Amino acid sequence: MITIMVNPNRANDKDRTFAKVLTNQIYIIINKLITNKLTTMKIKYLIILLVVTTAISCGSGNQGADTDKSTEQKAGEATVHDPMKNKGIGPVKNLVIANEIDMEMAAKGEEIYNLKCKACHKPTEKFIGPAPKGVLDRRTPEWVMNMILNPEIMIKEDPDAKALLIEYNMAPMANQGITEEEARVMLEYFRTL
Ligand code: HEC
Repeated sequence: MITIMVNPNRANDKDRTFAKVLTNQIYIIINKLITNKLTTMKIKYLIILLVVTTAISCGSGNQGADTDKSTEQKAGEATVHDPMKNKGIGPVKNLVIANEIDMEMAAKGEEIYNLKCKACHKPTEKFIGPAPKGVLDRRTPEWVMNMILNPEIMIKEDPDAKALLIEYNMAPMANQGITEEEARVMLEYFRTL
């Protein structure tokens, strides 16, 4: 009923029947109130309520359906979560990445990755964890760094990391005791994949 009050156009047939019943009830109450000599203020308030419920009960079905679509779209936009705007939780707040890939950094990154990550991550295909190939197309660089540096908190509190944990059958991303600099060069390596 609250939704209908806010937006009568969202009302469906069931709501309308309900509103009709309510309208009748309000008529009865108003009659009683007038005979009881209530203040005009209260009567005015009831009449406004009556107008709203009548509007709902008389609303055309088609009109409602059209408006339904756009309202749902708007509601969707407001609640949809965009991973490309999520920087995650951890020490990395802002990271600017140069257009050119730094191959020296990437080589260092590959070395560390082979030592500490390969047991669970194949570079280009899904394994125990996701493939780092193309990770920056679906995540912000800050998020990736924070996931490497702060996985325990990320999988508990970050919406995208939590979803990933479920997707990977609750296998948690491991904290490998990586420094920020090491995480940064690995990120550079991921860009070459
Ligand atoms: C013990 C296995 C394991 C190890 C070792 C491991 N990870 Fe993970 N990682 C996972 C799993 C499982 C996920 C996905 C589920 C989750 O987040 O809990 C994941 C997720 C990630 C993600 C998010 C990927 C995406 O597509 O969003 C990144 C980035 C990542 N790991 C990087 C690394 C790096 C870098 C290392 C090495 C320092 C590493 N991981 C070591 C298991 C591991």
